[in-house]
Amino acid sequence: MNLKGRDFLKLLDFTQEEIVYLLDLAAELKEKKKNGILVDHMHRGKNVALIFEKASTRTRCSFEVAAHDLGMGTTYLEPDSSQIGKKESVADTARVLSSMFEGIEYRGFDQSIVEELAKYSKVPVWNGLTNEFHPTQMLADLLTIREHFGYLKGIKLTYMGDARYNMGNSYMVTCAKMGMHFTACTTEKYFPDQALIEECRAIAATTGGSITFTEDAFEGTKDVDVVCTDVWVSMGEPDEVWEERIRELSPYQVNKAIMDNAGETAIFMHCLPAFHDLNTGIGAKIAEKFGITEMEVTDEVFESGKSLVFQEAENRMHTIKAVIAATLGE
Ligand code: CP
Ligand code: NVA
Repeated sequence: MNLKGRDFLKLLDFTQEEIVYLLDLAAELKEKKKNGILVDHMHRGKNVALIFEKASTRTRCSFEVAAHDLGMGTTYLEPDSSQIGKKESVADTARVLSSMFEGIEYRGFDQSIVEELAKYSKVPVWNGLTNEFHPTQMLADLLTIREHFGYLKGIKLTYMGDARYNMGNSYMVTCAKMGMHFTACTTEKYFPDQALIEECRAIAATTGGSITFTEDAFEGTKDVDVVCTDVWVSMGEPDEVWEERIRELSPYQVNKAIMDNAGETAIFMHCLPAFHDLNTGIGAKIAEKFGITEMEVTDEVFESGKSLVFQEAENRMHTIKAVIAATLGE
């Protein structure tokens, strides 16, 4: 398997075998890290640019730690601190950065921006989250599911909430690619784009996976292996949508009744950050305004033994390290 020189923009661009290869490499790098075996010879002397047009804890830290572990230097471009998009086009930025760096990470808005960056970059471009997709998150989730269950094919995964945004879209693509059974459990308004559904159904037909939609929270979570969700309002969306999201998505909150319905062996996953208590600025403001103390997941489920969220967060770093290592030539 040779992924040298490839961009990592969305999982639709990768075969099942390539995804498994990245997961195997991530598992190997994780094992080395746990055993104190250094890998800083792998890409010593190289540098990566990390463009963040939206906030981040996990993705930024994962790219920085992974790059440092591989022997590389990093330059972090925070939201609003570079010329990108304002005084300088994406195409010009790509040509400048790829003359100085061996790889470029981009987190921001439309998928078309990261695709444009990749088109004009001479070096690999990695998608650290766009409105449409969050592919590095998917590798972390797959690694976590595989570590827990021991396999991926045939796993039943239900996503609850806003299924038409980056996380919902990405889970649907991922399940189709890996031969897993995806259910989006939400009201029809929040179902993914029809063209993407059709593309994923065609992929699922070749892998043994399936794509299902239901508005019934109990039907959608009955006897599934993985229940996952995401925030009801994503970065970049206006505050005005909170009221409607709370009203429309509250029936899809992941709570004890949902996890009990999923069954004894089901696990809970969330890309994080999560609104499961009042210990966040936004969570406290929402509580004051709308009188709710938990949102997409209850604190009880979040803190339960079924919740793999922190293992999932750690796996961001190992999987991102695999993406960097493989696309720059392992
Ligand atoms: N899950 C995730 O992408 O987290 P950050 O926004 O903290 O990077
Ligand atoms: N849907 C969320 C994911 C955060 C990791 C957002 O885009 O804000």
